[in-house]
Amino acid sequence: MLFSEEKKSILITGGAGFIGSNFVHHWCNRYPDDLVIVLDALTYAGNRHNLASLEGKENFRFVEGNICDRPLIDNLLKQENIDTIAHFAAESHVDRSILGPDAFIQTNVFGTFTLLESFRHYWNAQGNPENHRFLHVSTDEVYGSLKPEDPAFSETTPYAPNSPYSASKAGSDHLARAYYHTYNVPTIITNCSNNYGPYHFPEKLIPLMCINILLGKPLPVYGDGQNIRDWLYVGDHCSALETVIQQGKPGETYNIGGNNEVKNIDLVTLLCDLMDELAPNLPVKPSKELITFVKDRPGHDRRYAIDATKIKTELGWTPEETVEGGLRRTIQWYLNNQDWWQPLLSQEYQDYYQKVYGS
Ligand code: NAD
Ligand code: TYD
Repeated sequence: MLFSEEKKSILITGGAGFIGSNFVHHWCNRYPDDLVIVLDALTYAGNRHNLASLEGKENFRFVEGNICDRPLIDNLLKQENIDTIAHFAAESHVDRSILGPDAFIQTNVFGTFTLLESFRHYWNAQGNPENHRFLHVSTDEVYGSLKPEDPAFSETTPYAPNSPYSASKAGSDHLARAYYHTYNVPTIITNCSNNYGPYHFPEKLIPLMCINILLGKPLPVYGDGQNIRDWLYVGDHCSALETVIQQGKPGETYNIGGNNEVKNIDLVTLLCDLMDELAPNLPVKPSKELITFVKDRPGHDRRYAIDATKIKTELGWTPEETVEGGLRRTIQWYLNNQDWWQPLLSQEYQDYYQKVYGS
């Protein structure tokens, strides 16, 4: 039987967050007979409602718990006979890492170490089966910032993280790499560009702008708005991760990107135009009148771009969605799911917003 046809028992950490929950739905649709266990601490960014349609399904389980809790993970791996870990759990927002880096070191570095260590012992006790995988989901931000003329990040670009978030992810990547080289633990690392789509927490650029347009609030663009990101629709990221689990080689790194480099100001302007077209009764129209340039983020990386040649040539994956198509789908989702995002604008969120943007 081909490895990709084998039934799996997959542990998805951070499966109640943005990309994790999209991936849980993706995997359950693609492999309805697999056992799927979600482990998530339900921090401010985790939301059990993201998985509501799966609750009660026979081969799906949600476990509320922390990836730093070694006994919990040891038990889970054994009890559920896990063969695959897809590790998404992390503190993920750069602005929060600037306000308070502690949780980033704890979860991203110590949490990843705890998972790796638990998986290593479990895998050894099982007799090192060949069909086990540890997928470590990471970011392109570990490579630092590009100048306009620099080539895009490849798998051999040296690491140069600039924020506490990217530094903590870099640390976790190095651990995942070391566990393969030292202990032969079958880890695979992916470094992906900026995602967007359904279930994205309101603090991130695209949902923040959609929600502020609906509320008639200013659209805060950092600095001169000329920073560049390479945007990837989250569904394309999920299909890339599936490809890497099924066909990727242990010990390897794969860069994942959308071939969609866009300046922030151009992205926000396009979003405004699409909102004007798709959203009824906007409080301010044209909504681009709400664009406001604000004080820059400290250490703000200028440009990210991914060279995704390796995953394309070795594993045959390419992204399908265009930026405009993906933004239309995303806007429609936020318009149809106001009950999802409205409760997230809590007092805690308002306090955070005040700290980052002022009044
Ligand atoms: P997110 O913040 O939306 O979700 C993170 C999830 O992890 C939440 O459900 C949270 O409750 C959970 N979590 C946090 N700390 C935990 C802990 N100690 N134990 C257990 N669960 C915990 O993040 P996301 O945007 O979905 O990102 C997921 C992963 O993908 C991260 O590792 C991130 O670095 C990586 N990534 C994100 C992007 C992006 O654009 N968002 C791009 C590339 C890579
Ligand atoms: P973000 O979604 O925070 O992702 P990341 O920092 O991980 O790339 O931000 C994307 C880009 O948008 C980044 O260059 C910072 C910028 N940005 C703003 O201009 N205003 C905002 O309010 C936010 C949240 C981000």
